[in-house]
Amino acid sequence: MLSVHDLLDTTHLTADDITQILDTARGFAEVNSRAIKKVPALRGRTIVNLFLEPSTRTRSSFELAEKRLSADSLNMGGSTSSVVKGESLADTIQTISAMNVDMFVVRARLAGTPALVARNTDARVINAGDGKHQHPTQALLDLYTIRENFGHLDGLKVAIVGDLLHSRVLGSLAPALNTMGAEVVLVGPPTFQVSDPSYFHAEQTDDIDSVLSEVDVMYMLRVQLERMEGAAIPSSREYNRLYGLNERRAARMRPDAIVCHPGPMNRGMEIMPEVADAPRAKILDQVNAGVAVRMAAMYLLLGGADDGISD
Ligand code: NCD
Repeated sequence: MLSVHDLLDTTHLTADDITQILDTARGFAEVNSRAIKKVPALRGRTIVNLFLEPSTRTRSSFELAEKRLSADSLNMGGSTSSVVKGESLADTIQTISAMNVDMFVVRARLAGTPALVARNTDARVINAGDGKHQHPTQALLDLYTIRENFGHLDGLKVAIVGDLLHSRVLGSLAPALNTMGAEVVLVGPPTFQVSDPSYFHAEQTDDIDSVLSEVDVMYMLRVQLERMEGAAIPSSREYNRLYGLNERRAARMRPDAIVCHPGPMNRGMEIMPEVADAPRAKILDQVNAGVAVRMAAMYLLLGGADDGISD
């Protein structure tokens, strides 16, 4: 059992919560590698996917996770819901909740929307990314990928690089790494730096070259071109020259160090194709882990039957 009712952020997760999710995800990863990728763990449960912002990989990952747990799911998007008729989100949530649903998975442009949903329902809520705030299942799949690679998380040093200012991935990943005993260093141009790195218990630098040989993980953030207000960076070429992970920089990393990216990648900007496609890049492992980790989070929140995995 997790210590939280909803998965709104990683800040409120204990090390025990995170370990439970990662351990449970391992069992589901095994299910996902079978020819028949389905267990009855959440049979009879109803999950509503409320995606108010475009999403491809997160949405498909959640949908696959729900199908593989045998849950029934309902997909609601911005333009097809009554929110466009002027109904308040609170009313929409109360209406859907009155149909006895068990969980909402919420992706939204505005930070705080999943928390608003949680205040209007007794159902469990998972934040699938809200504005620049948090994206907890992304952080958990990142932790899963890193732990599978190194066998542990404590004592590792992780550089989170790039568009720190607009990043909900940073918002979730850094606190979760802290909780699990890993060290975080933030790297980005001054216009992308966070105002208070001590909030993340992290050092902050604008010099990517200074961290390359020190870290176990280079976690490259996507430059959030859609969230720029004004020109924060001169050009993608300039950004690539100063902050992009290219072959020359990757060669300075420790032999066993890995590269992660949440996707979708801006190839040629924050990461060069030859690095993204190299063996040390774990980007597709992250995507693969996403389904198992989301299955684990949904299963643990809904307190599925004990024999859920073994079938
Ligand atoms: C992330 C997101 O949407 O926050 N992507 C994702 O979940 N697939 C990261 C990003 O968009 O940069």
